[in-house]
Amino acid sequence: MPEAASNEFWRDIKPIENVFKPDAKPEVYLPNAATDDERYYVPFTETVSSRPLWISPERNMWCDILMAKKAGLVNRHYHPHEVFAYTISGKWGYLEHDWTATAGDFVYETPGEGHTLVAYESDEPMRVHFKVTGPLIWLDEHGNSAGTFDVHDYIALARAHYDKVGIGAAYVDGLFR
Ligand SMILES: [Fe+2]
Repeated sequence: MPEAASNEFWRDIKPIENVFKPDAKPEVYLPNAATDDERYYVPFTETVSSRPLWISPERNMWCDILMAKKAGLVNRHYHPHEVFAYTISGKWGYLEHDWTATAGDFVYETPGEGHTLVAYESDEPMRVHFKVTGPLIWLDEHGNSAGTFDVHDYIALARAHYDKVGIGAAYVDGLFR
């Protein structure tokens, strides 16, 4: 039960008794996802960090808050699968498109898109909620494949960082669903 209702019209409705099917996993509730606590942001490139919120090793997917405190770059890469994004603060875009995203802007990137992510200097850090299905395929300046990054790389990066900052590597496992 969440916070008790006061006068809300639904106050007498009973919650479902059998919430989870026998093999279902528990939900994730993560308060303050786009926290200011920098320890939670795993360095992803030299200028951009990622706070993992939810990770599915089986589906090669993750949700995160992508953050850059000032100008930032995630160099050119290609997505064989879709990407969803919702902008919380700051200003960002892709060199390949003509829009610039700010707070409240939603973006859907179709499977088969390559792009170069840039964060602008802004009053607030760039904070974007992403839902990514891996892998990212890094591209060289000619558009040829130059390595990959998938959920397993993401997990390894996050574990190493959380271990280093004292949160503990096991924190990452708690995000698996
Ligand atoms: Fe991307």
